Amino acid sequence: MNDRNFRFFLVAIVGSVALIACGLYLPDRVVGRRTGGQFASNGERIYFTATSGSGNRIRYRGESSGGMMTGRLTCASCHGADGRGGEHFMHMSTMDAPDIRWKTLSSVEHGGHEGSDQNDELAYNADTFSQAVREGITPGGDRLSSEMPRWEMSNEDLQDLIAFLKTLD
Ligand code: HEC
Repeated sequence: MNDRNFRFFLVAIVGSVALIACGLYLPDRVVGRRTGGQFASNGERIYFTATSGSGNRIRYRGESSGGMMTGRLTCASCHGADGRGGEHFMHMSTMDAPDIRWKTLSSVEHGGHEGSDQNDELAYNADTFSQAVREGITPGGDRLSSEMPRWEMSNEDLQDLIAFLKTLD
C-alpha cells in the first residue's frame, strides 16, 4: 500500500470508528440526562429506557404504542422523570398518568381509580405491582385503562424497578 492509499485507509477507519461510537453513545445520551448516560441502577435504566439488564428492550402491548406518540415508550414518558405522573396531551385527548413513586403506591391511603373505594387493600405490594405492570390489574381487581401498556418484564427487572421507585420522593 502506498502512502496516499494508506492515509485514505486510515481516515476511513477513524471515521467509521467515530460513527460507531456516536451510534452507541447517542441513544443513552438522549434518554439518560440524569446521570450523563450512566444509570445508577438497573431499575433506573428500566424506568428511563425500558431496556432490561440483559440489554434487551422490554416489550409491551397497548394502544398508546401507536398513534400520536412516536418512538418508544418508557415509564418516564407518561409517569414523568420524577414518577409523579401528570397530564399529557395524547391521541387528541388528555391522559392523566398517576403518581407511581413507591411511597404513593404502597401507602395506606392509595385509592387510585375512579369507581373504587379507597381502602387499604388497594395499597400495592411487590406482587400486585407486578400484576399491574404485566397484566394491567390493580390490587382491587380493577382493570387499568389501555393507556397503560402491558409490559413483558422479568421478575428480576420488576424487583429492580421497585427498588428504583423506592428512591423517588
Ligand atoms: C403511554 C403512557 C404510559 C406508560 C408508557 C406507562 N404507563 Fe403506567 N399508567 C399509565 C396510565 C394512563 C395509568 C392509569 C390507568 C388507569 O388508571 O386506568 C397507569 C397506571 C400505572 C400503574 C397503576 C397505578 C395506580 O395508582 O394504581 C402502575 C403501577 C404503572 N402505571 C406503572 C408503570 C410502569 C412501571 C411503567 C414502565 C414500565 C409504566 N407504567 C408505563 C400510563 C402509562
